[in-house]
Amino acid sequence: MKLTSLLFSMLTAAVVSSAAFAQAPIVIKFSHVVSVDTPKGKAAERFKELAEKATKGRVKVELYPNSTLYKDKEELEALQLGAVQMLAPSLAKFGPLGVKEFEVFDLPYIFPDKDVLYRVTEGPIGKDLMKKLEPKGIVGLGFWDNGFKVMSANKPIHLPSDLKGQKLRIQSSKVLDAQMRTLGANPQVLAFSEVYQALQTGVVDGTENPPSNLYTQKMHEVQKHVTLTNHGYLGYAVIVNKKFWDGLPADIRGELDGAMKAATKYANAIAQQENDSALEAVKKSGKTTVYVPTAAERAEWRKALLPVQKSMETRIGKELIANVNKEAAALGYK
Ligand code: LMR
Repeated sequence: MKLTSLLFSMLTAAVVSSAAFAQAPIVIKFSHVVSVDTPKGKAAERFKELAEKATKGRVKVELYPNSTLYKDKEELEALQLGAVQMLAPSLAKFGPLGVKEFEVFDLPYIFPDKDVLYRVTEGPIGKDLMKKLEPKGIVGLGFWDNGFKVMSANKPIHLPSDLKGQKLRIQSSKVLDAQMRTLGANPQVLAFSEVYQALQTGVVDGTENPPSNLYTQKMHEVQKHVTLTNHGYLGYAVIVNKKFWDGLPADIRGELDGAMKAATKYANAIAQQENDSALEAVKKSGKTTVYVPTAAERAEWRKALLPVQKSMETRIGKELIANVNKEAAALGYK
């Protein structure tokens, strides 16, 4: 009798715990470094909403914005270790992983406009780049847009020579390093979460970022001058841990893929608007000047920075750069 009731309670416990197990949602920890009020922050929220709805709660997406979980370099290590499942690092941060080709996106003036960019991210070049992540244990799910970068410092910036000798914060990209050195500046790699303080305390004199990042991190409050150089691009690759992704039930993976496609559309639809309104807010704040270079000054910036495309050929690949330029030519750019 005793044995029967013991067996019965063991069986009940097993059934209850396996039911609980069956119901436990699959958790996706999605870490990123920017504010929730940015194109990436908003797109991550949209993905969470769509993914949870499509999987009827079988997947739970936990968002960790603003470097609350990991900073730049740590987050990529955490993804590879499986401590976090999803990230959307900027394309300038893949070099340390050993995928230098992503730095093609950092080349000055490589994208004359967003249409050329989308031909790259949504076409065969984008697909090939994502494939390069797989041997690193990473799957790329989509490219999310942000925008073109402005320069900022505590002195007026009209011409490239105005940045000579300035200490400028950059992301961990060798192309950005070369870009700043070409200007005669001293580039300093810093995690995004450290930029505001570094600008405030004078550890660095200036930096570059799209207006959405500048504004949401309050960089304009510690930079006296902003110049709309639009000399380079900043965007993201949404990536997942490959083992986690491949281990998902096929139906769930399909739903998540769909949610990511929709979130990517959304990200790319709002990015320009988000940057425009951030720029307006920066102007309105009155805390910094916003300078628009003249046509002659813009020509000087191009002349100074275009050679970086050539000098980075050995790092990134001549063919890749040529293929991106071909996409621009297909839209009538020379
Ligand atoms: C930066 O570090 O400046 C950007 O990559 C931050 C981001 O994720 O947009």
